[in-house]
This record gives sequence, C-alpha cells and structure tokens, in this order.
Amino acid sequence: MSDIYQGEGRDEWFFPEDSYILSETDDKGIIIYANQMFCELAGYELDELIGEPHNIVRHPDMPRIAFKGLWDDIQSKGFWTGIVKNRRKDRGYYWVHATALRRIDSNGNYTYLSIRRVPKKSEIEACIPLYTDLKSKE
Ligand SMILES: Cc1cc2nc3c(=O)[nH]c(=O)nc-3n(C[C@H](O)[C@H](O)[C@H](O)COP(=O)(O)O)c2cc1C
Repeated sequence: MSDIYQGEGRDEWFFPEDSYILSETDDKGIIIYANQMFCELAGYELDELIGEPHNIVRHPDMPRIAFKGLWDDIQSKGFWTGIVKNRRKDRGYYWVHATALRRIDSNGNYTYLSIRRVPKKSEIEACIPLYTDLKSKE
C-alpha cells in the first residue's frame, strides 16, 4: 500500500515525512537504481526507469542552471543539495529536498546517489519566485 497522496489541486503529489526517495545514476546520469518510493511518486514502474536518463522526471518549470549547479558540485565537491520540482509520468508534480552525492563503485567508476526528503513549505515558497525568475531569463 502506498502512502503517497494528491493535493487538493490534484496535480501536486506528496510523500510521507518519514520516508525517502532514493536513486542512483552512472556518471552520465543514467538511472541504475530507484527505490520503491521513487517509482510510486514518479508514477513509473522500476523497469521503465532503469537505463533512462534522470531527466525523465525533469519538470519544465526547473531552470537549467539548477542542474548545472548539481553537476558542477557533485563533480567538484562531491555533493549538492537543493530543492527540486519533478514531473510525474502523468504530468503531475512533486517537490523534494534533494542531496546528491558522488561515490566510487567496486570497479572504480563514479556513480551518483540522490536521496530526497519532504521539503519544508517555506523552502518551496522561497524557490518558486527564484526559479520563475531564472526560467524567465533562459
Ligand atoms: C544522482 C542524480 C540525481 C538527479 N535527480 C534529478 C531529479 O530528481 N530531477 C531532475 O530533473 N534531474 C535530476 N538530475 C539531473 C539530471 O541528470 C539532468 O541534469 C536534469 O534533469 C536536466 O536535464 P536536461 O539538461 O537534459 O534537461 C539528477 C542527476 C543526478 C546525477
């Protein structure tokens, strides 16, 4: 049984405070793992996600520079944290507080993990005008 739920507007989806969304990509951003909560919230079956680029959940409201920051930081510092609006398969959306990390697998290859928790309402409210402004300048 899933604990995800829709907001009143029916487009926005939420996940429980005590759960998390996890995914792992290769060094090109191709999904190699996603947990059950990722699949449920994004609205995909696991086998629809594995092997796909992570931009499969990209929402068009997200400014390009946010993802440039993500890639620059995980490659230089090894981690990145930010608030992300993602798109579901059914075109609904969900906000996450994401922390992405670089790791080295047993073959010496870099992979990237992202763990997401429920963002605070204030974090989302701070991002909406910022992202709208950045998007309008693209
Ligand atoms: C570990 C990891 C997790 C990511 N998670 C997301 C995500 O949840 N949503 C998203 O839109 N992009 C995510 N990205 C960034 C995508 O790889 C991609 O850069 C972004 O969606 C922009 O895609 P585009 O430049 O093809 O439009 C993630 C990347 C990595 C390495």
